[in-house]
Amino acid sequence: MSQSLATVAYLGAAILFILSLGGLSNPETSRRGNLFGMIGMALAVLATVFGPRVSPAGIAWIVGALVVGGGIGLYAARVVKMTQMPELVALMHSLVGLAACLVGFASYVDSSNALQGAEKIIHEVEIYVGILIGAVTFSGSLIAFGKLNGRIGGKPLLLPGRHWLNLIALLVVIWFGREFLRAETLAQGMLPLVVMTAIALLFGIHMVMAIGGADMPVVVSMLNSYSGWAAAATGFMLSNDLLIVTGALVGSSGAILSYIMCNAMNRNFLSVIAGGFGSGAPAKKGEAAAAEPQGEVVPVAAADTAELLREAKSVVIVPGYGMAVAQAQHTVNDITKVLREKGVQVRFAIHPVAGRMPGHMNVLLAEAKVPYDIVMEMDEINEDFPDTDVAMVIGANDIVNPAALDDPASPIAGMPVLEVWKARTSIVMKRSMASGYAGVDNPLFYKENNRMLFGDAKKMLDEVLTALES
Ligand code: TAP
Repeated sequence: MSQSLATVAYLGAAILFILSLGGLSNPETSRRGNLFGMIGMALAVLATVFGPRVSPAGIAWIVGALVVGGGIGLYAARVVKMTQMPELVALMHSLVGLAACLVGFASYVDSSNALQGAEKIIHEVEIYVGILIGAVTFSGSLIAFGKLNGRIGGKPLLLPGRHWLNLIALLVVIWFGREFLRAETLAQGMLPLVVMTAIALLFGIHMVMAIGGADMPVVVSMLNSYSGWAAAATGFMLSNDLLIVTGALVGSSGAILSYIMCNAMNRNFLSVIAGGFGSGAPAKKGEAAAAEPQGEVVPVAAADTAELLREAKSVVIVPGYGMAVAQAQHTVNDITKVLREKGVQVRFAIHPVAGRMPGHMNVLLAEAKVPYDIVMEMDEINEDFPDTDVAMVIGANDIVNPAALDDPASPIAGMPVLEVWKARTSIVMKRSMASGYAGVDNPLFYKENNRMLFGDAKKMLDEVLTALES
């Protein structure tokens, strides 16, 4: 393939990636967005493999790697459950970071491009920055993977003087950067590069370890952004325009998502990065005791739940992580259909961080074919709870926790929540009294107008559906 044809293919792929991102911003166009992305990626891979920079002997290596990598990807896509998706994404981000590091070291030791003067300095800056971002992304994403699948606890690791440690690490990295650029031989340059990589790896671990469970959504989107910048840095090192454009698209969209997440959780972006939010432990012991949930919970049976729903004029359903675990979305849609046929107004309230990844609930409800026009964002529906007869919470916990508004000592204090307790009756469907991801108690369960429907969400909803249909 000639250089000009490869450039045209790259341009086409870049446009398809932009169209893909545009499509993914709305559930109705998301399938089309995915398709654009797939075609763009196929075009990009073909133009690279058969492009002018790969020798015929190299093609066999690349195809071999594609078969192995594609096989692993296919296997993962088939066996990974929807609820494990965020961990998988975190793991994939770590691979982008690792690739940036490896490409950085490879292009440093590669003696074929003997650059001189300003070109050499620019190339070395690209290598240094690329490995720096790559190493932070790699280790940070591995810790995020551990935190998302529960192997690492949600409690933040708050080292004494952690901000100073970070500042010293930054200064050391800058100093070694200067040494790296001044090095005259490969061996001289390798030492500062390796030391900087070690510091960047430790910084990535420290950065994510310092973030509390409740703030993980911001970290996930932030690492998404970092992986984009790592890919862009790789693009600079390899002089690959498409990788630069694609990396910048991922990096900037991830940054916008992080900003949206911070707004949704009422967090200051810089404070989340600096760490220590969402400690999982109240700030002051005295306040914590006062804020302990008091009273008793009122259990309710599936048949009574059906009765409450049948008699209601308006119902708001709040799905959460538990609905994803139980895979109850199809039964939820069946119940919605029955209620709507009976003239009950049914709407869904989606919290921006419900579940374990951005848009998690929207994807599940779309899969179950719940009509988009009854699926509301938190801001659109929160004021309607006082006029709602039944608010039905399905496997959600943190996103409906009144402590976020009432208890300044709570780790989730300040996070906007769905105010289901303002409905005439709220019903919480979950298996036990266990806490949610942030590990905090939920006073909603003890409110007078709240009922607890204990059990697996799918099983309980099946019983509710049977009772509604009988
Ligand atoms: P959570 O607060 O995690 O609560 C989910 C509840 O579902 C649990 O209390 C659990 O209680 C229940 N549950 C689990 N399996 C169930 C089943 N089979 N049937 C019925 N109930 C079941 O979820 P949420 O309210 O959706 O809030 C999301 C949390 O995750 C927030 O803290 C958020 O910060 C965090 N987070 C979000 C993201 C993104 S981007 N969305 C990423 C990382 C972390 P039982 O065990 O008693 O059943």
